[in-house]
Amino acid sequence: MKIFVTGTAGFIGFHLARRLLAEGHQVTGFDGLTNYYDPALKQSRLAILRQEPGFVEVTGMLEDAAALTAAVAGSEAEVVVHLAAQAGVRYSLEAPGSYIQSNVVGTANLLEALRHNKPKHFIFASTSSVYGGNTKFPFAETDRADGPVSLYAATKKSGEAMVHSYAHLFGIPSTCVRFFTVYGPWGRPDMALFKFVSAMLEDRAIDVYGFGKMRRDFTYVDDLVAAIIALADQVPEVGKPVEHDSLSAVAPFRVVNIAGGKPTELMDFIAALQQATGVEPKLNMLPMQPGDVVATESDTQLLQALIGTVPETPVREGVEQFVSWYNSYYGKN
Ligand SMILES: NC(=O)c1ccc[n+]([C@@H]2O[C@H](COP(=O)([O-])OP(=O)(O)OC[C@H]3O[C@@H](n4cnc5c(N)ncnc54)[C@H](O)[C@@H]3O)[C@@H](O)[C@H]2O)c1
Repeated sequence: MKIFVTGTAGFIGFHLARRLLAEGHQVTGFDGLTNYYDPALKQSRLAILRQEPGFVEVTGMLEDAAALTAAVAGSEAEVVVHLAAQAGVRYSLEAPGSYIQSNVVGTANLLEALRHNKPKHFIFASTSSVYGGNTKFPFAETDRADGPVSLYAATKKSGEAMVHSYAHLFGIPSTCVRFFTVYGPWGRPDMALFKFVSAMLEDRAIDVYGFGKMRRDFTYVDDLVAAIIALADQVPEVGKPVEHDSLSAVAPFRVVNIAGGKPTELMDFIAALQQATGVEPKLNMLPMQPGDVVATESDTQLLQALIGTVPETPVREGVEQFVSWYNSYYGKN
């Protein structure tokens, strides 16, 4: 199958493309190689994808509507997965414009391109952050999610709304997938796991926000990628809901959480890091940061109904995989 993936130089896009290529699909990858974090890491990921004959690489920004439309048209894709975005909750307080450009303008440009090059299924990467300060756990797709507490979440919610309108107006079957703290090898340097491991291995203290009282539904990247690929076959159709569905009444559109529904306390996560690295961490206990939420926990019933399985790699195992990748990539061992 021909698949168009945005964000292929990024953490999740790289893993998704690699898996699709290994399964024999043809992947057109679109990425602007932004400098939000070390572009060398993005180049290393791309170097692996370039070894696959089925990989077509396009370097471009989502904001460049003409380049994006040409890439989409050239790919002749049946499935489009939109992962490219300005990610990260905390940076959205520092550089709001970057979120508006990449996540709002960029997503609108992609939707316009899809209007004229309709795929069989469009998958849009959203986030558990859209649940904002919700206090009803677990978070279900049918819960209200219109009280974002960061601009990052607000731009992702805007993306979901735009995707719904295009699904309705132009009949583009669309699934918005909400990810919950994805981690694993080749992960993002701005995320806690990466920062904690590099600090611990360099004997620096780690900043533990929320005084360690946070809880996250951590999702191992291989599980996430497997779920995205399985969901690609579950094309939403108006009037054909499954159990626990969030299917729109007026558009071939649904929202699906991807997570295992078993949140881990931050301090247990840190204990797993200690075990994997053999280093006792020095903790710098700090208050919550603006924009962050205390806990995330996914309701998994819809994902289970759609694909028959949910992410289940134990955190200890996933963290070990990360540490082993980190050591080999940065030559620590
Ligand atoms: N990693 C997580 O825990 C997590 C959680 C929830 C949602 N998400 C979402 O999943 C998606 C992938 O996240 P990731 O962790 O792989 O992030 P990432 O930053 O590693 O990857 C994003 C990629 O998009 C590219 N990009 C950014 N803005 C662009 C633009 N305007 N034009 C072209 N390319 C651009 C970047 O160069 C990067 O390679 C994002 O949409 C993110 O918001 C991630």
